[in-house]
Amino acid sequence: MSLFHSTRTLPEDATGAALRADVRDGLTGTPKTLPPKWFYDARGSELFDLITELPEYYPTRAEREILVGRADEIAAASGARTLVELGSGSSEKTRHLLDALTGLHTYVPVDVSESALTRAGQALVAERPGLRVHALIADFTRPLALPDTPGPRLLAFLGGTIGNLLPAERAAFLAGLRAQLSPGDALLLGTDLVKDEGVLVRAYDDAAGVTAAFDKNVLAVVNRELGADFDLAAFDHVALWDAENEWIEMRLRSRGAQTVKIRALDLAVDFAAGEELRTEVSAKFRRDGVRDELSAAGFGTTHWWTDREGRFALSLSTVR
Ligand code: AVJ
Repeated sequence: MSLFHSTRTLPEDATGAALRADVRDGLTGTPKTLPPKWFYDARGSELFDLITELPEYYPTRAEREILVGRADEIAAASGARTLVELGSGSSEKTRHLLDALTGLHTYVPVDVSESALTRAGQALVAERPGLRVHALIADFTRPLALPDTPGPRLLAFLGGTIGNLLPAERAAFLAGLRAQLSPGDALLLGTDLVKDEGVLVRAYDDAAGVTAAFDKNVLAVVNRELGADFDLAAFDHVALWDAENEWIEMRLRSRGAQTVKIRALDLAVDFAAGEELRTEVSAKFRRDGVRDELSAAGFGTTHWWTDREGRFALSLSTVR
């Protein structure tokens, strides 16, 4: 009997329909926006992996430092028998947690990418005799149907990806997570922290131009999936710090006036010279803010760990 199992909760065309709706809404509104989830086709995921190795992009290394140093504490505090990981991708960071969670029964990676889930899941069951892997092919911003596995559950949402949600979306998202958990379950949340503006901006506008290529890749996704004719060279990558909202924004700035056609939407979109399209918000957090947002959603924070330089935090919270 194989210990790898997967469940798809995304209808076959859900992705296409969601992309069409997001592109239509985002490019006909003012200012123009596109949601960051569409960065991650195969090329975008590859570019993101390269970003995590850039000297300027510290969050991945900082979070790994915390996970390596604290995995045993996390395991002891949660006592988890089921580990659920949202946006698991290649499950690379998770190995530290899996090593520490000695009583673990099932690992539930959740991702929209079926290929990443299957590759990572099959490798894990092969490496770890006895571990059950139940992959969920799902959009984790929607309600999940978690498999019926033994508790307590530890739900991990790492990388700082929660920062891609706007404050109201975060509140709804966290309350939704809370609703799927039971008393005794825990949430392990990775959050990037507010810090020097130059450090932040460089992390999103690296010298080698990898982040610029990642940013523009969303245009290539729309070209391929929706038959659009974006000229990637006609846009410049922009990263800026919004000090009031305490978030980084990535934008694509139109070098000149231009009209882009999107065949699948039967839509023509005009860009003025210098007009900017917002492609990502990446919010940065403070300890009190994280605690308050978690508390409002029904979680009580029991642990807060940062890397030695205080750049990134992992918090552990339990369901109240
Ligand atoms: C994967 C969402 C955590 O916001 O830092 C990296 C994505 N964007 N460089 C982030 C990203 C530009 C990343 N997250």
